Amino acid sequence: KPTKATTLILFGATGDLAARMLLPSLYGLHRDGLLPEALKIVATSRSAHDDASFRDHAREALGAHVPEAFYETGSAATFLERVSYVTLDATDAAGYQRLADAVQGGGEIAIFLSTAPSLFKPTIDNLEAVGLAGPHVRLALEKPLGSDLASSCAINDAVAKAFPEERTFRIDHYLGKETVQNLLALRFANLLFEPVWSSAHIDHVQITVAETVGLEGRADYYDGAGALRDMVQNHMLQLLALVAMEPPASFDATAVRDEKVKVLRSLRPMRAEDSVIGQFTAGAVGGKPVPAYAEELGKPSGIETFVALKAHVDNWRWAGVPFYLRTGKRLPQRRTEIAIQFRALPHSMFASGGAKAAPNRLIIAIQPEENITLELMAKQPGLDRGGIRLREVELDIEKADAFADVRRRIAYERLLLDLIEGDPTLFVRRDEVEAQWQWVDQIRAAWEQAGATPRPYAAGNWGPSAAIALIERDGRSWND
Ligand code: BG6
Repeated sequence: KPTKATTLILFGATGDLAARMLLPSLYGLHRDGLLPEALKIVATSRSAHDDASFRDHAREALGAHVPEAFYETGSAATFLERVSYVTLDATDAAGYQRLADAVQGGGEIAIFLSTAPSLFKPTIDNLEAVGLAGPHVRLALEKPLGSDLASSCAINDAVAKAFPEERTFRIDHYLGKETVQNLLALRFANLLFEPVWSSAHIDHVQITVAETVGLEGRADYYDGAGALRDMVQNHMLQLLALVAMEPPASFDATAVRDEKVKVLRSLRPMRAEDSVIGQFTAGAVGGKPVPAYAEELGKPSGIETFVALKAHVDNWRWAGVPFYLRTGKRLPQRRTEIAIQFRALPHSMFASGGAKAAPNRLIIAIQPEENITLELMAKQPGLDRGGIRLREVELDIEKADAFADVRRRIAYERLLLDLIEGDPTLFVRRDEVEAQWQWVDQIRAAWEQAGATPRPYAAGNWGPSAAIALIERDGRSWND
């Protein structure tokens, strides 16, 4: 069993992710008594601060981003006592000794790099030079881990020189989401689903990650990435892998990740015609007018803000079952869900009465609501002449109010705790990331060859109409 870290070093501590997610998550863990007693947090970034002024900054961030009901002044104060600050330019080798000096005692160290990927290599070299990379140190990395397979391998190689795979924790924050882990519980802690979880009974799978936001001030990054690399390469392929994988022998880092990587390697190379890309034009989201992507960006762009794909997992279990994926910015709702559509009945005994049985569906809603719903057919109450009438009813497997007393945690709470405790199960292994990039690179090459360019869609719509045609030409429809 790994030893718990006694120091967490947070690079990029004055950044946006730290303010919105990382500091509030660490505070939440502290407040609930989940952090190791001895844990000290050494925050670092280029901005000039001393301990006191960084704590003021952190207190403000907590005030702004921790829900009021969970913010306690006393807990915030004791939390901030754990925190110290070192001003450091990540590329300045000479400064790293100050960082090493700020680490007290000889315990395990967890380092979280919430910085631009261009800084990963110099940071790691500098950490190594001052002894912050030995067997007692583990490293967590935030996305983007490259922009294609080659650049991802270059990052992975640079990391591997100082941190072997078992001490490298690659973050995909979707794996920290409660309902995403619950998908594993649903599949593997129940007998009901596994026997029907294959092409014999499943018609198709849909994975939707719809967002209402636009660029959110991340123009530089986003316009170089686009929806495929920003969302599909990581979060959506991880969701797909969890839906499609074989049952692991145990909930253990090697067993779970071995099964996921097999799925990722079974993804069929895509044809350009099985995908649709889009870019939003001016429109309205939630009743509010929003400008076009190009206007938000300040220049014309050929990058996609929407992508829909029809993917296939070419293995025994999933032969012939399409996985329709779609994600986009400025869509009508924020909604992440996985819909499993079962096959139609082979024969309906009620058909003579005119009753039609809709195929069963299992909807795993990840956000904004966390819910699992099974759509079933039931008898419509009443004394109908000419046979039974059917009606679709929803069975809520996990109602939010069944767990109403449990606070919903930020995904990063799970991930930071696992990092501190040294459990890599919910982090992405190198072979997974590389399989993901390989598939994505191949799609981009297919687009380039086909001369595919994003089709316009007005903000507030479900992407270009071709995305609807993509699924409808198969006689199916998106679950809207
Ligand atoms: C990030 C993407 O990884 O995930 C963003 O870079 C996206 O573009 C975000 O908005 C979505 O995360 P969540 O948790 O809000 O679904």
